[in-house]
Amino acid sequence: MNSTYKNILILTGAGISAESGLSTFRSSNGLWNNHRVEDVASIEGFECNPALVHDFYNELKIEVAKAKPNAAHLAITKLQQEYPGQVSIATQNVDTLHEKAGNQNVYHIHGQINQAVCLNCGQVMETWGDVDTETTCPHCHIMGMMKPNIVFFGENLLCMDKVEELLRRCDLFISIGTSGVVYPAAGFVQTAKYYGADTIEFTLETTANNFLFDKHIYGKAGETFPPFVDELIKKAKKEA
Ligand code: APR
Repeated sequence: MNSTYKNILILTGAGISAESGLSTFRSSNGLWNNHRVEDVASIEGFECNPALVHDFYNELKIEVAKAKPNAAHLAITKLQQEYPGQVSIATQNVDTLHEKAGNQNVYHIHGQINQAVCLNCGQVMETWGDVDTETTCPHCHIMGMMKPNIVFFGENLLCMDKVEELLRRCDLFISIGTSGVVYPAAGFVQTAKYYGADTIEFTLETTANNFLFDKHIYGKAGETFPPFVDELIKKAKKEA
């Protein structure tokens, strides 16, 4: 591990939000908030039962609105404020805990819970209120064509041009709280490594792509990531 990095890219997954009380996807019962991911995060599931999918995200919105960022999110803000290099975040999470913690340069590749998109006119809008099959688009005024702005399985990821540029440029790639099973995000570490980055993962247990990381720090990110950040800042100050 170098001590002073110019471009750090942090990939986060549901694990970074676990200590804020939000559920992960592949925990013990393999359900996401008691639903199969296929039923609430796929195009087929949405077409088959849009009302159930809208209800699911409307409820999740309430949980996310109440959730508070934890020490891991706040450590990212500290890194961005005190470390001399550029720090960007590609998150698979649809919650807004990075923003609530004051993190900058956040790219939501799987979408955001507080946004909806109109399938008729393509307009994306910010909304913390309920969206359902009766909702009328405020832009094209067509009813019943709204969808949560969540990337469903089979849909293209968001912000990928920017993320690919960050992957090419980063000299440190950090993964926090992701199981490494869903591509293309699970392949990011390989791309970063190809372009010469050091790679480190923070997780609770062995991940599917753990062999691609130079270093693994196991434990709760709220406990393991803040000291790592302090150490990185201290080393950079010494080098300055
Ligand atoms: N600190 C660090 N890691 C944690 C913590 C914690 N407190 N709690 C759980 N983890 C780890 C778990 O060990 C697991 O490796 O976080 C990871 C969570 O994995 P998943 O539940 O699979 O979530 P994620 O990797 O974000 O899922 C990726 O799959 O269903 C899709 O679109 C969905 O974005 C999601 C994607």
